Amino acid sequence: MEDKLEFIEGRYTNSIQRTFEKYRGEVPELEKPEQLVSLYIGSDLWDRAIQFSDADTKVEVETLDKIFKKRGVKSVLDIACGTGRHSIPLSKLGYDVTGVDFALSQIALAKAKASMENLQINFFNMDANSLGFKGNSYDAAICMFSTLGEEPMNYPLVIRGAFSSLKPGGIFLTDNYNWALKNRKSEEHRGNIVLESGMRIERVMKTRFTDKYRVRETILTFNGTTQKYVCITHTLNTEQWIEQLRNAGFTEFEIYHDYEKAQKKDPGRIQILALKPQK
Ligand SMILES: C[S@@+](CC[C@H](N)C(=O)[O-])C[C@H]1O[C@@H](n2cnc3c(N)ncnc32)[C@H](O)[C@@H]1O
Repeated sequence: MEDKLEFIEGRYTNSIQRTFEKYRGEVPELEKPEQLVSLYIGSDLWDRAIQFSDADTKVEVETLDKIFKKRGVKSVLDIACGTGRHSIPLSKLGYDVTGVDFALSQIALAKAKASMENLQINFFNMDANSLGFKGNSYDAAICMFSTLGEEPMNYPLVIRGAFSSLKPGGIFLTDNYNWALKNRKSEEHRGNIVLESGMRIERVMKTRFTDKYRVRETILTFNGTTQKYVCITHTLNTEQWIEQLRNAGFTEFEIYHDYEKAQKKDPGRIQILALKPQK
């Protein structure tokens, strides 16, 4: 198992470097490779500055639990697990969880949280573009919070890796923005985040769309330093995601709207459950 992916002899992992080379010309916001990952790599900013609503996480985990129970899932692979927002509650519910993320700092935080709760979770520092699980290891795989469409995830590679990591009859659940409904206008938001410690982070978010992806530049200023994060998110709609999943070998699909099975008029997020066939 690769132990230190963030830097290899001072260079960023191949996926980050490759993504940078691919987009540096067409995305002028992107000036340095580290801007693709600065929220995750070498800091705990993601956990501290991007506060999820616990209520959202609760609904997400409850839905996963319902789906997993119905299908007899015991082992779960959490792809791009971050600091364990889903891995940890799923482990508490009794699932055998493996979480992978290429950011050492995220994995380190996830491990620390799990050990504080005496949970046995396998957290690996691994690039999701080359998932190393051969031999059909898991009953279920998840990739949460729009991460599948976000560079430096190369979604066709991740989907193929998820497929081969699953046992026959296994399921892959992905969660994405409902891009079909999103307003694609350029916009800018300014605001402050105040951490529990009292530390204040100024945040400027600038968003624009091309016909294939959203570019979101997030500039954080704190303690006299400025950090820029550039997120390129592919804006596939549900049919396009299903096509990608089908290309990898998944055969049956279920759609959830904001984690509900019933069709809703304006769901902000869509979840797709894809089934790996038995044979
Ligand atoms: C938006 S966060 C989501 C984290 C978690 N799934 C959640 O819902 O809280 C995206 C995560 O993807 C990870 N990531 C991005 N590209 C990756 C790749 N190619 N391989 C592994 N992890 C990746 C980042 O390090 C970060 O932790």
